[in-house]
Amino acid sequence: MAELLSVRDLRVRFHRAAPGRCAVDGVSFSLEEGEILGLVGESGSGKTVTAMAVSGLLPRRQTEASGSVTLAGRELLHCTEAQLRAVQGSELAVVFQEPMTSLDPVRRIGPQVEESLRAHTRLSAGERRQRALEAMAQAELPDPEALCRKYPHELSGGMLQRVMIAAAIVSRPKLLLADEPTTALDVTIQAQILALLKKLNRETHMAILFISHDLHVVRKLCRRVAVMRRGRIVETDTAEALFRAPREDYTRQLIAAIPTRDRRLLPEEPGEEASL
Ligand SMILES: Nc1ncnc2c1ncn2[C@@H]1O[C@H](COP(=O)(O)OP(=O)(O)OP(=O)(O)O)[C@@H](O)[C@H]1O
Ligand SMILES: [Mg+2]
Repeated sequence: MAELLSVRDLRVRFHRAAPGRCAVDGVSFSLEEGEILGLVGESGSGKTVTAMAVSGLLPRRQTEASGSVTLAGRELLHCTEAQLRAVQGSELAVVFQEPMTSLDPVRRIGPQVEESLRAHTRLSAGERRQRALEAMAQAELPDPEALCRKYPHELSGGMLQRVMIAAAIVSRPKLLLADEPTTALDVTIQAQILALLKKLNRETHMAILFISHDLHVVRKLCRRVAVMRRGRIVETDTAEALFRAPREDYTRQLIAAIPTRDRRLLPEEPGEEASL
């Protein structure tokens, strides 16, 4: 399979951080086309800052970044804003933890799902609407036509996260960055969203960088996992090998940090679709 994303020796420092303290401190990893890679680690380990660097969302005035991030061979870390916007609208999309903060509360759902098409394509209004309805159906939202006319506050958290996923896949990206997309949801809804991401990956071959502090959630979705600690990747392996024989104490601690309630919902084998 061809390499899609390559992150090499990524370093990110916030100007106001203590001297010598890097939020991301020499991170390297890669993702193949259609692959799902998990990125796990405790709070503050640098997962979100890594995702921001990959998606071009780092506040450039507050940070200093070095290394390289290439998507389908194109350098993203030091490209112009215009080049970045072109990639953001077509090849790369993001979904975050809190759908409510990403959606505009006073705009209807339909136009918000279409947003990236409006900004990045020359599709007609009719074509955009058609694509939005298709994306909503793919995200398994019931009655997309009616939903388009609703406002965010009329939907549950799980539905809103599906709307965010629809808005992300509407541009048919090659890479989806999902930063704790299920953390704010209860366990049942969480499992549904994970199953949806897995289905989308299978059907559209979209690669996913899936970020979570919870190794057990990651295990349900990803074959390969990178473990982050204090701005570095300390261990990368298949989810199965990490659970069977973690090399790092830190990984062992992440495995031990499971609420037993969630443990019952785990599939027997990592990556088993049937149990989702
Ligand atoms: N806007 C900012 N200004 C200064 N430092 C920041 C800023 N955002 C993040 N950091 C620092 O960067 C480091 C990594 O933070 P990051 O948000 O990437 O962690 P995380 O792994 O995503 O954690 P969590 O699981 O809590 O989301 C932390 O030490 C944090 O304090
Ligand atoms: Mg984070």
